[in-house]
Order: sequence, then structure tokens, then C-alpha cells
Amino acid sequence: MDLYEYQARELFKKHAVPVLDGVVVQTPPEAEQAWSTLGTPLQVVKAQVKTGGRGKAGGVKLARSADEAREYAEQILGMDIKGHTVHRVMIAAGADIAQEYYFSILLDRANRRHLAMCSKEGGMDIETLAKERPEALAKVPLDPAVGIDEAKALQIAGEAGFTDEQARELAPVLIKLWEAYAEEDATLVEVNPLVKTEQGEVIALDAKVSLDDNAAFRHPEHSEYKDTSAQDPRELMAKEAGLNYVRLEGEVGIIGNGAGLVMSTLDVVAYAGESFGVRPANFLDIGGGASAEVMAKGLEVILGDEQVKSVLVNVFGGITACDQVANGIVGALDMLGESATKPIVVRLDGNRVEEGRKILQEANHPLVTMIDTMDGAAAKAAELAK
Ligand SMILES: Nc1ncnc2c1ncn2[C@@H]1O[C@H](COP(=O)(O)OP(=O)(O)OP(=O)(O)O)[C@@H](O)[C@H]1O
Ligand SMILES: [Mg+2]
Repeated sequence: MDLYEYQARELFKKHAVPVLDGVVVQTPPEAEQAWSTLGTPLQVVKAQVKTGGRGKAGGVKLARSADEAREYAEQILGMDIKGHTVHRVMIAAGADIAQEYYFSILLDRANRRHLAMCSKEGGMDIETLAKERPEALAKVPLDPAVGIDEAKALQIAGEAGFTDEQARELAPVLIKLWEAYAEEDATLVEVNPLVKTEQGEVIALDAKVSLDDNAAFRHPEHSEYKDTSAQDPRELMAKEAGLNYVRLEGEVGIIGNGAGLVMSTLDVVAYAGESFGVRPANFLDIGGGASAEVMAKGLEVILGDEQVKSVLVNVFGGITACDQVANGIVGALDMLGESATKPIVVRLDGNRVEEGRKILQEANHPLVTMIDTMDGAAAKAAELAK
């Protein structure tokens, strides 16, 4: 889950990373009020959207009076930044910037490490810097068991070309950013710019944090960051039911048990769909030990998706046997009644397959077609979706 800047700053504060005060508002008059609440002579009005490059798009403006704060809020609210509409702006105390640096920590899956990246040249587009002058961006692997301690912090700053004195100033902030990253189970913490002020303080002026959804169970307090408005309603519904669902752009709804089987079902449907001009509409894994209720929930999610024209249920009976799955399908169709209008192709194999097929045959539902092979079932589902 990606956080808004103002949420990421809250996490930073909690871990004693230095940030300046800020107030989040939704209307220009509130922005004017925020000005006096903050009370600093220079303030900044910043679009709160989950995308980068806000500054370039005109979504970050320095204000020198309450009137300016209101005016800029008026300009920025409602603005579209890379397809994200600005619903909130943050008014933040302004910093007297002497230098802008870059610092980030991220999960480096390929190398099974965390990675710290640091540069003396922050503020600008870091992707451009990494491409054009990679030597200006230090990349230091982090041992997950150690993270960033004092020695590591000094090493990172040293490799980024900071002097020993600068490295000693930066080190405590880098250590705290690691603490925030590790304790909050983040996969990304990025500060661009991390600034040094004319007064000699090191402050995080921007904050980008992504939290690891797989660790959400350890952080009930993170649920307040859930941004349901930005999420696909089907994905939300599936998540609440504990289903692994990813919506794609296609016409053939897919349900299977086990991630491997579902992935290969997607491949087979994509292949079979070529001749009909159709593609898989989603990934949905109901899991190895899924019950009939789960199957029903899965069907409900997919059948309610207006882009779906046909559904392929591909199940290999294991812990949950085919007869349970068949009962799940029949039960789901009963439950959905008239609202189920799309053809469903079912391929069952594995544990108690004969019993499962018998249940479907006896139910004899007009929407259900049974096909015994995966290729055959994929071809049929693709044809029906056309
Ligand atoms: N509190 C502040 N005081 C003074 N200047 C600021 C402040 N916040 C931001 N700035 C200036 O605005 C620039 C852009 O800010 P920021 O990094 O937050 O947005 P951005 O980088 O354009 O957006 P994104 O991080 O989404 O790409 C900074 O590099 C800095 O020069
Ligand atoms: Mg930035």
C-alpha cells in the first residue's frame, strides 16, 4: 500500500525523523487558515497524490502570505497530475534550503537484500540522475539483520561523496529512516529531497512510503491509511473475502485453486483467446483448501464484473475435493439466482472428480458447461466470451 505524503510524514514523526509541521486541507479557505496555524514566513502548498513529479506538474508552490496559500490551494485542488485528481493539499512550513540530497531504502528482491540509495544531488528527477550519471547515486546493500547502524550510515554517506563531517550530520537521520522502514514493515522509504537548511539542520522535506501488505496483520494501526476510494471495488470485495484476486483487462473470468494452476490457466486462456480476440479478465486463486463458500464468493466477485463475458472454473481437487467445489458452484448459482447470466465452463480433476461431475450433471444448470481437459475448457470459455 502506497501512502500519501502527509501519511508518510506521520510515520516519520513517530520514528523521530525530522520533518516540518504540515496541515492537510481540502478547500482554499482552509488553506488560508492553515497559514496562520503554521505561522512561518515561508510555506509550501503541496498536492497530495500518489504519484511522483508533483513539482514539475505545478503541484508544489511556495507561498509567502495567507492570500498566496489560498490562491495556490485554489489552483492545485482539482488539478490532474498523471491521471490523479488532487483532492487534498498539504500546507507545510517552509525550509531555508541550503542543499538538497536524495535518500531511499527499498526492498531489493532480486538480491534478497534491502538497498539504500543516496546522492548529494537530490530534488531533481532521480531516475534521470541514475541513468545519466549513475556514479552520483550510491547504492549500498543492507543486511536485513543489521540494517543501518552508525557504521553503515557513515559508509552510505561516504560512498555518496559526502565529507566525513557531512556524513556525521546525516547519520542519525539515516538510522531513524531505517528504523521507520523496518518497524513499519515498509518496502520503500524515499526522501527526495532530504535537505540541509541554512541553519544546519537535516530535514526530510518530502516523504514517500510503501507498506508491505503481507505484513498488514502486524499493523492494525495501518488500517487508517487504507484508501478505499482509489482501489478497484472488485479487488476490495475480494480482499475482504480473503481471496487472491487481481483484475486484468479481458473478457474471460478465471477461478482456480492454487496460484500455479491459476497462472497456467491464464496462459492457456490467453493462447486460446487469440483466435477469438478475447483475454483473461482476472487472476483469482481461491486457495488450496478452499471451501464451497469461498468458491461462491469468488464466483460472485467475477460474475459481477461487467467486462466479464464468460467464466472458466479450473479446479484440481486436493484437500478441497471436487465434490465440495461442485457444491460450491451449485450453491453460488442458487444464491445469485437471476443475477447470474454468464456462461460458466467448469473443468474438474483430481480428488473425488467423479462425484463432483455427478453433482454438476444432476444440477443441470443452463449456464454451466463441463469440459474435462484444460485446453478444451479454455477454448470453450474463449469462444463463449466472443
Ligand atoms: N517545506 C518546503 N520548504 C521549502 N521548499 C520546499 C518544501 N517542500 C518542497 N520544497 C521544494 O519543492 C521541491 C519539490 O518538492 P517535493 O519533493 O515535495 O515534490 P516533488 O519531488 O516534485 O514531488 P514528487 O516527490 O512527488 O516527485 C523540493 O525539491 C524543494 O525544493
Ligand atoms: Mg520529491
